[in-house]
Amino acid sequence: MEIDRRAFFAGLGGVSAVALMSSEAKADALEHHMAFQLNAAVAKKFPTAEEIAAKVDTRPTRRGVGNLFASSTGNVKRLPALPEKPTLLDYFHLRFNATSNHVLQSANRAMTNGMSEEIVTACLLHDVVQELIKVDHGWWGAQMFEPYVSEKTSFAIRYHQALRFYADTEHGYEYPDLYRSLFGEDYKPEPYIEATYKMVRNHKWYLEPRMVTVNDLYAFDPNVNPKIDQFVDIIGRNFKQPKEGLGYDNSPSAHMWRSIAMPDHPL
Ligand SMILES: [Fe+2]
Ligand SMILES: [Fe+2]
Repeated sequence: MEIDRRAFFAGLGGVSAVALMSSEAKADALEHHMAFQLNAAVAKKFPTAEEIAAKVDTRPTRRGVGNLFASSTGNVKRLPALPEKPTLLDYFHLRFNATSNHVLQSANRAMTNGMSEEIVTACLLHDVVQELIKVDHGWWGAQMFEPYVSEKTSFAIRYHQALRFYADTEHGYEYPDLYRSLFGEDYKPEPYIEATYKMVRNHKWYLEPRMVTVNDLYAFDPNVNPKIDQFVDIIGRNFKQPKEGLGYDNSPSAHMWRSIAMPDHPL
């Protein structure tokens, strides 16, 4: 457990008061402080779905808008142009700023856990479409990557979104607290998510998206900072880079890549 030294000292009357305490008294006080913090963490309060819905008209943008299209901290930034024939790595370096650390951590974890290259690839790509749009990002993401990856990898990307709402302790997945804060503690997934879950649960490829959720959940460690270079070989074997550049190959999802490349175009 992390100790907030300032809060701990302030609770005891400040640094000078602590200096006058015996080491035993200090140890007792520390134990008491940690027990208190632990209780506070256990009693974490999550909003209800209704409280979350009530905030909709307090914001200038909708929650499902892509990272590139809105800023939570002020104005959006000017973006550097992409090369004429952009590759997946160019998008990682110049457009996936808000999502890359998270997906790199997921892929790094999947690699450490000995997952197949198809699952590592799915982990590496599973959330980057959130630069374009967040709502239903599993489906959007799978569609964007479908022309360039194996069917198994796009299956894993598409369905990780629905599986995240359903625990599977046998395979190491628990319902995440993050979802309690994002959707509300009493949130019930909509019927289309429930139906999708049931279909995928009985599918022969169930473990592909399930392993994305397993490696996703633990992928928020500020001390782990993997680089895209680590995955260059896996990308080479599992991602079909179009020679015209992503966005210009006339694939069914080329327009999605262009929207990420040029989000400032007004139409
Ligand atoms: Fe996701
Ligand atoms: Fe994720």
